[in-house]
Amino acid sequence: AKEEPLCIVVIGASGDLAKKKTFPALFSLYYHDLLPKDFMVVGYARRQLTLEEFRTSIMESLTCRVIDGPQCQQKMDEFLPKCYYMSGMYDKAEDFSRLDELLNNFERRFPNTIRVDRLYYLAVPSQVFESVVSNIHRHGRTERGWNRIVMEKPFGKDIQSYLQLRNSLRHCISEDEIFRIDHYLGKELVQNLMVLRFANYLFEPLWNRDHIASVQIVFKENFGVEGRAGYFDEYGIIRDIMQNHLLQVMALLGMEQPVTLHAEDIRDEKVKFLRCIRTLKASDFILGQYRDRQNPQRSYLSEPGVRTNSNTPTFAACVFHVDNRRWSGVPFLMKAGKALDERKAEIRIQFQSVPGGLFSQAVSAHLPNNELVIRVQPDEAIYMRILSKAPGLTSRLEEARLNLFYRTAWEDSKDIPDAYERLILDVIHGEKSLFIRDDELEVAWNIFTPSLKELERDIWKPILYDYGGRGPIESDYLAAKYGVQWSEGD
Ligand code: BG6
Repeated sequence: AKEEPLCIVVIGASGDLAKKKTFPALFSLYYHDLLPKDFMVVGYARRQLTLEEFRTSIMESLTCRVIDGPQCQQKMDEFLPKCYYMSGMYDKAEDFSRLDELLNNFERRFPNTIRVDRLYYLAVPSQVFESVVSNIHRHGRTERGWNRIVMEKPFGKDIQSYLQLRNSLRHCISEDEIFRIDHYLGKELVQNLMVLRFANYLFEPLWNRDHIASVQIVFKENFGVEGRAGYFDEYGIIRDIMQNHLLQVMALLGMEQPVTLHAEDIRDEKVKFLRCIRTLKASDFILGQYRDRQNPQRSYLSEPGVRTNSNTPTFAACVFHVDNRRWSGVPFLMKAGKALDERKAEIRIQFQSVPGGLFSQAVSAHLPNNELVIRVQPDEAIYMRILSKAPGLTSRLEEARLNLFYRTAWEDSKDIPDAYERLILDVIHGEKSLFIRDDELEVAWNIFTPSLKELERDIWKPILYDYGGRGPIESDYLAAKYGVQWSEGD
């Protein structure tokens, strides 16, 4: 663990993100002795809460992996006395000065020669980013160590609003101090993508247009927007999932090998790859919105917070073209949807078909192509679909799998950390490779902005699909246009 004392301030401490992700991750880091010996956690939010109520809320919303750990209670009893709460407004200088005083009191416990750092975690809606960051800049900086600010999407709604946000924050914080979270980058399997590609001999020689026929990146959830409609209806599935989480996965899949593992080298390669992606057009998309015919209350349009007749998509499928030497002609298909048949995030890489008809008699239908599947969640796995001779006195070929199932391959795979643990730890260590750089975000918005604007026109009504189903059939036609069938099941 880091030696120097640390103040962690969670702004928006009474909200959903803080309760579900930030505090559980902080506690899990503490549980595993990964926080500095001396630290304090301050929750800051508008709501009036007593210290007791705040500490109880941390304890009660514990969702992290240590919940059944043998020392959970003992560790919690040690952790809670280090947590404080302060209620304050997001735009009031006096409130931030009071916060500063609390942090200064902590700092004063250490001799002047010791560095004391400050980490601000912004778990607030993006409308208040600017005022919070400007108050931190004016009233919340320490001179005794570093100041780092963690933020999470939405970073604007399109390229224009992103650039505006960036410019207004630039007066207050430098790029070095900002840590933009995309929690998909903290997921175990997403972190493994670079290892898979660049630490093995096997894949990289095949990782190009000569051998790969198509790539699918799929995100599905089997529940609707559930209480987050106010936010979701403004943004929709493309901005919520595709422009960030899935595009990041795509960048790690498609980029060239970085010069070193240093954050800037990795992010340079991601930016280079993203710049080769052709700007999307509205016609590259199929949009959907869920409805529930049996139980209309569960339909998207019945969610409290959704505008009447809202056209916001809860499902989207699209195709990307990458104009570079490695990928030219290989369709990258992406699909993301809420209220579908299952919860799953996975990547599927389909290889070209085997030339020559040597085995065409031995399989019933056409010879299926090899496929590499990287299942991000649930039940993390990497496996390869291959053809094999069926055992016995037969010459029949059958599909089989070369499996790397985390559950059986590693004993402690049940203990995979939540993405936020990895990410917060990296903020503390100043390791930036899993955070989004400003130019990356700019290119990401450039790819999506024209189509987003076009799709917001009324002529692009989303297609209604049934809650719990596969989503609009039209997404199959989109894939078929590129000779691809969405892979379903295993
Ligand atoms: C968030 C989105 O970023 O990711 C949510 O805003 C989505 O809509 C969530 O449910 C999915 O994250 P995970 O880690 O559960 O796959």
